[in-house]
Amino acid sequence: MEKSNKNYKRRRFLQYAFTGATTTVAMGWLFPKSSESQSQENLSNTVAVGGVVALDGRGEQIKLSSFLENVPLKKPVAVKGLSKPTYLVVESGPTIAPYGIIPVCTHQPNRVRWREDLDCFRCPNHGARYDYQGRAIGGPAKRNLRRIKVVTQNDRIKLIQ
Ligand code: FES
Repeated sequence: MEKSNKNYKRRRFLQYAFTGATTTVAMGWLFPKSSESQSQENLSNTVAVGGVVALDGRGEQIKLSSFLENVPLKKPVAVKGLSKPTYLVVESGPTIAPYGIIPVCTHQPNRVRWREDLDCFRCPNHGARYDYQGRAIGGPAKRNLRRIKVVTQNDRIKLIQ
């Protein structure tokens, strides 16, 4: 009786160990590239799944390298790709900020624009102001502008809602 109980425990242990090892091998076989491809990505943007490619005013893909070369630091630039324009920001490095700014006022849902002359986003309705990162800095709006995730992949910029 005791011997069969011991055999049962041994069988359960082997079953458990074999299943775990098999699962580990299978996962490695199914996803062999994930760690390799991540090391080639921008490390601040490790999840490069889904999203849409950022486009310029002519509807052409924006190259990350030329974007970083041509856009001044901390001056948001509107890009296309999503149903609404999204502002991207170059930060010191230079590197692209890991977020995009959706220019819809948080006081009431009206469009805001980056005002070069004021060095902030400004809402034309009641004068809410937001800094280059979309943080509320004046006027009736108390909440920051909504942000989405931005990742880079193979010299492309992807916008992820
Ligand atoms: S709607 Fe933007 S400040 Fe009121």
